[in-house]
Order: sequence, then structure tokens, then C-alpha cells
Amino acid sequence: MFNSTFAIRRLIQIPPRHPGTRNESTALHFYQNRQLELYASKEAKRLTLRQLVFFGRSMDRDRLIKSANYVRTELPVRIAHRLRDLQALPYIVVTQEGVAKVYELYWSAFEKLRRYPPVTTLSDNEGFCRFLTDILDEHAPVIPSLSLGLSLSSPYLPPDQLDSFMRRMLISRISRRVLAEHHIALSNSFVGNHRENSGEPHVGIIFTGLNVRQSIERCTNLLRKIPVNVDDHCGDDVEGRCWPEVMIDGHLQTEFAYIREHLEYVVFELLKNSMRSTIVKHRNSATLPVIRATIVAGANDVGIRISDEGGGLCTPQNSIRTPSDLFSFSHIRNATRMEDSRLGALRTVSSRPEGIRATVGEQLGRWDDNLPAAPDPEKEAGVGPHPRIGIGLPMSNIFSTYFGGSLELVSLDGWGTDVYLRLPKLGTNLEGIEV
Ligand code: COI
Repeated sequence: MFNSTFAIRRLIQIPPRHPGTRNESTALHFYQNRQLELYASKEAKRLTLRQLVFFGRSMDRDRLIKSANYVRTELPVRIAHRLRDLQALPYIVVTQEGVAKVYELYWSAFEKLRRYPPVTTLSDNEGFCRFLTDILDEHAPVIPSLSLGLSLSSPYLPPDQLDSFMRRMLISRISRRVLAEHHIALSNSFVGNHRENSGEPHVGIIFTGLNVRQSIERCTNLLRKIPVNVDDHCGDDVEGRCWPEVMIDGHLQTEFAYIREHLEYVVFELLKNSMRSTIVKHRNSATLPVIRATIVAGANDVGIRISDEGGGLCTPQNSIRTPSDLFSFSHIRNATRMEDSRLGALRTVSSRPEGIRATVGEQLGRWDDNLPAAPDPEKEAGVGPHPRIGIGLPMSNIFSTYFGGSLELVSLDGWGTDVYLRLPKLGTNLEGIEV
């Protein structure tokens, strides 16, 4: 029903129905589309990490209100660009389960945001933060929904087109969430609510002295809390095994200003992949080779290399041709995209029950494993174990490149994999062009 309604609307070029939009007259739709065009014709005001820190550092009432109004006016512009992108997709793609759902969510958020009145007082701002929190939550299933829709559409889109569309959608989503979450965090700090950041130096969501070694350790400890859940193509029983050790070396004192959740999302995914492949490759050995994480503080960036002896990426069980195919959402580059188990898992996580707050992991796009994703146990209520959905690496690539960093995988087939993560440390790069 959902799809067909959407399809008809799409065919005659009218936006879907929204709360508060009862009248479906042509004039109204014409007006709504004109609004979309108006916003989509504006350029996004891209920011650097440094600007986000400097602006938030000495906060006062006027600056907080300025920040609220920047977010209020910037978000609909960024969403309008992506709605335009969705409208440009072939008909068969936009009507796919998942894509249609995201289109509806974005239209609804666009309408709500563009109608939101200016914020002029601190009490207005409180209401605005609550409003943002609800949208952030509502949009938690966007990544699996898009991933499901684009996997199903893979036969109808050339791989380059599919991947560049997906990249724009995901970079833009990260950017919008950064703006919203940063503003909420600044507002919380302003009113003395520091609940989430455990006293570490931070401005909004940016940790100003993020200790890389501690982040790697935190990810390792988090991984150790989950049962070994390995996709063992050989059918051997690997349950009950321990996770391999992680040895950290290099510039152990490295600290830089970054969004901790972004760094730890990536490190967690990389370590998880290394650990899984190590366990599978060495399933018949009494001991497991250690995984080595090397930190390097360069002049302009921070580098992390993670090396494992997990057999490499291009194994006989794995049909990918180049390591970067693992970042692809196209089944031509990465055949797992169309596997029934993946599609089923994506369906499960994209149809999460309404009314349950998304966990921190889900907000970031992390569903794999039985992970205790949120530090706040209240938020875990009702969220059970999740199957593997295969978006950890593509998302890691997007998080790494958002502020101009990079993620490279080098496979020594038959031996192991080296992953090179590079993140800019000066904070002077603008957000990706795709926002
Ligand atoms: C998203 O999560 O996809 C968003 O667009 C959230 C934003 C509107 C706050």
C-alpha cells in the first residue's frame, strides 16, 4: 500500500502527504514543490571542525540562540538537496521498499523544519532541542532502509551511480546529525547538563583532547563484551572462542580534536573485522595471533594502522575483486548485497518498533551483533540482538572521509589485512562537498 501510494504520487510529480497537509489540491502541491526548489537552490553553509569548536567554546545566550537558528535554517537546505537527489532516481528505484520510506521521512522533516518558527529565547531553544531529538530518533532507521532499498535496486543502477548516490545520502545525513547533535550538546552544557560526556574536555560533541589509545582500548573492551559471533563460511564451531588480543604501539600519547563517536565507530568496525577473520583463519590453532594497532601522529593528521593475520580479504569464500569493493552498495562489486540473509537482516533492523528510543549505536548506524551499543541502559529497552547487515565498512569509509580523512584496506591474500585510517588533526577541512 505504502509503495503504491508513493508510486502514484511520484508518477504525477507530487510530494507525499504530510501531517497537517489535508488538502491535496494541485495548488498546494505546486506550492510545496516550489518550496523544495527554493531551498534546494541554496548552497549548504559547510563548516570545519575548528569552526564548530571555536563557536561553541565561549557560549552565551545570544550565541546559543544564533546556533539554534543556524541549525533551524541550514537543515532544510541540506535535506532539500537530498530530496532532489531522490527525485532524480529512476522510477523503479524510488519505489523500492526502503527508499520510499526514506523519501517520506525526509519530506516530513523538511516540512517541519522549514515551518519551525525562529528561536528567540532560551525556552524556545529547549523546545527546539526536544524537537530535534525526536527527529533524530525518528530517522534512526534511515541507513538500513536506504541500504535495503539500494541493494534491491542494484540491478537497475550502474555501480558508480549507485555508490555516488549512496555516498551523498550518507555524508549529508552525518552532516545533519552533527549539526543537530552538536547544538543539543551545546545547549545541554549551557544549562549545566553534562550527563553524557563523563567530564572529558569537549565542546558540544567534539572532544578537544581525544586520546587515540584510549579510544582503541574502549573499542576493544566493548568488543570483548559481546559473544564471539563469527560468520564462519567453513561451518566449524567457533563459538566459545575468545577474541584475539590487541596490541597498541606507536605514538601512544596522541591526542587531537575530533568527534569521538566517529573515530570509535570506525575503530570498532575495523577491530571487529580483524578479530572475526583471525578467529576463522586460526580456528584450529590453540592460540590466536595478536592484532596490532599502530598510532602515528603526523604533522597534519593522525594515522592508525590495524594489522591482522586473518587471511586477507580476497579469500576463496569471498568473491570481492578489490578491497574497496567492500565499500560498495552495488551487488556487481559486492555480491553479498543481494544475499537473502543480508536483505532479511536489513528488513528486520529498518522496521524497528516505533516509540522505542534508538540506541547510540543505532543512531550512528551500528546494528551488528549483540552489542551493548548505548552507555545508557535505559535506551536499550526492547532492543534485542541484531543480525549482520554489512554496512560497517561502507559507513566507516563515510565517517573517515567526512572531514577529509581516508580509509584504505590492503589485503595480503592468504596472510592478513592492513587497514590504514587517516584523520585530519587540524580541524581545518570543510565538511564533504556532498552535504
Ligand atoms: C537523518 O538522520 O537522516 C536526519 O536527517 C536528521 C536531521 C533532520 C536532524
